[in-house]
Amino acid sequence: MINNHDRVVTRGLKGVAAAETQLSFVDPAGILYYLGYNIDDLVEHVCYEEVVYLLLHSKLPTKNELDEFRSQLISEMKLPEATITCIKTTSLNSHPMEVLRTAVSHLSMYDPDRDYKSEQANKRRAVRLVAKVPTIVAALYRLRTNQQIVDPNEEFGFPENFLYLFRGIPADNEEKNAIDRFMTLHADHGFNASTFAARVTASTNSDMYSAVTSAIGTLKGPLHGGASEKVMYMLDDINTEEEVEDYIQGMLDDQKRIMGFGHRIYKTEDPRTKHLRGMAEDLCHRTNNLNLYNLCIRIENVVHEKKKIFPNVDFYAAVTLNALGVPFEFFTPFFASSRIAGWTAHVIEQYKDAVLLRPSSKYVGAYGRPFVPIEKR
Ligand code: CMC
Repeated sequence: MINNHDRVVTRGLKGVAAAETQLSFVDPAGILYYLGYNIDDLVEHVCYEEVVYLLLHSKLPTKNELDEFRSQLISEMKLPEATITCIKTTSLNSHPMEVLRTAVSHLSMYDPDRDYKSEQANKRRAVRLVAKVPTIVAALYRLRTNQQIVDPNEEFGFPENFLYLFRGIPADNEEKNAIDRFMTLHADHGFNASTFAARVTASTNSDMYSAVTSAIGTLKGPLHGGASEKVMYMLDDINTEEEVEDYIQGMLDDQKRIMGFGHRIYKTEDPRTKHLRGMAEDLCHRTNNLNLYNLCIRIENVVHEKKKIFPNVDFYAAVTLNALGVPFEFFTPFFASSRIAGWTAHVIEQYKDAVLLRPSSKYVGAYGRPFVPIEKR
């Protein structure tokens, strides 16, 4: 028997590099790069459609390429009638992330490239998924609130269309800017848990829809993208800035995690936080909800004082989406509607690597237990 006891386990795969990627780099020093571009530059100077193009084609588009890509994305937003019927038949008690997971799986049966596995076919599939995931989220919200499903407007940008399909009213300039930046900041993030899940599925040569379904199920968890919704429940629980100290201390005494805080890689502030904090402040200002923003700042200070940890992307993302009128349970679906860009790009990269992602384990169970027939147990 092979001696398994000497095997070293890296718990939580902390610090393990599972594959190479050119797509994004999460620098522990608090910098995030997409294809070598600093996220701080991208968020100020390019739109979300350019970021998606960059992730899928490894270069920023020319003006013509961007116009064509945007039209392509918008024309792919429409869902097959059967997928709308599928969404309509889901239980009203289900979480929107459960419906999204189911609807994406359903979509795979209607892919016009079903039988094609080339990189070109996968890029077309990626565009379809990037376009249709937000539409599923918007359609679900409209159906659950007994409102008509809205068709995309070709005059609008892609993120603007997402908000339009969701709320049914055109966004103003500040809202357009906010949703564009939100989606850019959430588009990719190295080997986060959901991206890794997508790559594991793709590494078996399974299809892109299966990989994205794995990713959605993984993003849903509160230690990952599910944190943003929980942030809002925490903010709802705390009424005034004076209550913050006791509330946070109580959570820590009970060994509970403060949602929207801490990060596996960044040991300093998450580089996306400053952008989202600024957006949250501006949007809270215009919605006359600066108390909420001030409460967040107080929480940030108290958590840092007590645990020396910083807010991650989910903390101010929650406040931003709330100010845009998105209900709490749709926060993680909005995250998924942006991260779909990264997931699909990683799936394509994983197919090129062509290696099965299959780690080993350290067996710590029993050996040689005497077998007892069922009638004698
Ligand atoms: N609240 C309280 N303590 C925390 C938190 C937190 N949010 N995050 C980390 N810590 C403490 C943890 O208790 C540990 O302390 P000690 O060394 O005294 O035992 C230390 O910090 C290191 O934590 P860890 O669990 O070893 O770190 P990790 O890399 O395994 O976990 C994390 C990373 C994101 C799962 C964790 O920070 C967490 O649970 N955060 C809350 C959930 C959350 O906001 N998730 C979103 C993550 S980022 C964006 C995304 O992916 O969606």
